[in-house]
Amino acid sequence: MAYLMKKILLLLVLGVGCFQFTKAQNHCATMDFYQKCLEKNPQIIENRQALEWLTENYIDNKKKETTHKILETNTLPVVVHVVWQNEIENISDEQIWSQIEVLNQDFRRMNADTINIPAEFAALSADCNIEFCLATVDPEGKPTDGITRTQTNFTNIGTATVSDTLSTTQRIYYTLLGGKSAWNSNQYINIWVGQMGDNLLGYASLPEIGSPLEEGMVISYQFFGNMGTATAPYNGGRTATHEMGHFLNLYHVWGPTSGGCSEDDFVPDTPKQSAPNYNCPIYPQTSCGSSDMFMNYMDYVNDDCMNMFTNDQNNRMEATLNTTRAALLSSKACSEPLAIVNSECFTFI
Ligand code: ARG
Ligand code: ZN
Ligand code: CA
Repeated sequence: MAYLMKKILLLLVLGVGCFQFTKAQNHCATMDFYQKCLEKNPQIIENRQALEWLTENYIDNKKKETTHKILETNTLPVVVHVVWQNEIENISDEQIWSQIEVLNQDFRRMNADTINIPAEFAALSADCNIEFCLATVDPEGKPTDGITRTQTNFTNIGTATVSDTLSTTQRIYYTLLGGKSAWNSNQYINIWVGQMGDNLLGYASLPEIGSPLEEGMVISYQFFGNMGTATAPYNGGRTATHEMGHFLNLYHVWGPTSGGCSEDDFVPDTPKQSAPNYNCPIYPQTSCGSSDMFMNYMDYVNDDCMNMFTNDQNNRMEATLNTTRAALLSSKACSEPLAIVNSECFTFI
């Protein structure tokens, strides 16, 4: 039954085509790109259905498990590619570290603003047991600080595209097109930082929608980290938290398309919601007959006003990490293979 509903919903998604966002600030690019990807490759519909099956299965099995599994923390390697045209876009290492810190706090429920969660939702707030590290080993096995820096000739490299009659490609994903090519997306979460036009904050690839060369997320330099060029009201590093949610297969709390009360985000413990919330709403906000969880990272409020993922969102992300994105769990990109290589060298001397 649920499967049929999803099938109908996914077909609906395909049918809607490219919809427009009217809100100037906090423009959701992820679903916009998702639509474009669907149009380009209808096979994605099938892949997404298979993924929903895997997700459902994983969560069902988890719930059936009688033995108490010890919760382990998964650490995921990240590489940040700064692609800049003007000096100001070439953000500092400190600003990048501040972003990793925010991600680590938010995904471990160590963020200071959990105290703002309304009592109604407090028990639903999750420690997602995911941490992030800047890669210490590059794709050639050499030491790295997990940051690449590339100067580009293109304005708004974060959204610049090149098109022919068949397709449109984002320049930022490819060194030869003025961006920076991904590091193997099975081993690194690629985060590109580049200026975007149209007040866009960022966009991410949901599992199964992009080529491996285009997996990860792109975030504008004004909305990355919580210092330096980070600009209010999106200067809390929550754009990356939100995009990481998409990357791990979360939809917006209102669902995959433009809203209404008939669509759902496939997350049981987030209430139905008819549309995005913006700015910093006063609690409570009601739609679809229930209180909106507008303080969820997957809504559109200001960085200061979002503070939680739920237990069922956590289940969905965990399912993704154990299925489609499982390769990341065995990545060695944050280890120290060089120490081993060096010590072998030394034994030869
Ligand atoms: N533009 C982003 C997206 O749709 C959402 C913005 C995140 N919100 C925030 N307060 N930083 O993927
Ligand atoms: Zn989004
Ligand atoms: Ca829900």
